[in-house]
Amino acid sequence: SNSCTTEDRREMQLMWGKVWSAQFTGRRVSIAQAVFKDLFHNVPAAVGLFDRVDGSDVNSNKFKAHCIRVVNGLDSAIGLLSDPSTLNEQLAHLATQHKERTGVTKSGFAAIAQSFLRVMPQVASCFNPDAWSRCFNRITDGMTEGL
Ligand code: HEM
Repeated sequence: SNSCTTEDRREMQLMWGKVWSAQFTGRRVSIAQAVFKDLFHNVPAAVGLFDRVDGSDVNSNKFKAHCIRVVNGLDSAIGLLSDPSTLNEQLAHLATQHKERTGVTKSGFAAIAQSFLRVMPQVASCFNPDAWSRCFNRITDGMTEGL
């Protein structure tokens, strides 16, 4: 099945939670930086979308602050998987923020999904790519509506 089931959702929340239970406070930033490095490596044209936040230097403080906003956005969406109607509102809000940015397309979200799939197994133990992908798609489907 292609849908994010209750079981998938629990697994995703567990995988995500394990990442943050680890020692490093800087972990959220470094994981998002790794994801964006992977994305920019595979889709060099995407770098320019992030000029305002110094996308050409993923180690800059500006870009690290952007990374935190993205991870926190994802974190709240993952948390809300158990509350679909609130989740939909949150995703609609994120969709609006992305629609405002010229050049952001659904294909960019497909690419970042692949980047997460490459980074997460390195940082989460017992990573289940199928459960993760089904729920990640549920989240990005909502975020890219009308994009
Ligand atoms: C900004 C979340 C994927 C392009 C943001 C912001 C959040 C966010 C929370 C900050 C909004 C604000 O404060 O105004 C996410 C999440 C993603 C995701 C959770 C995936 C799960 C993407 C992808 C692209 C993209 C794939 C394009 C390839 C942008 C751009 C900005 C942005 C251009 C504005 C940066 C700036 O100038 O401040 N995103 N995003 N995002 N996002 Fe995403």
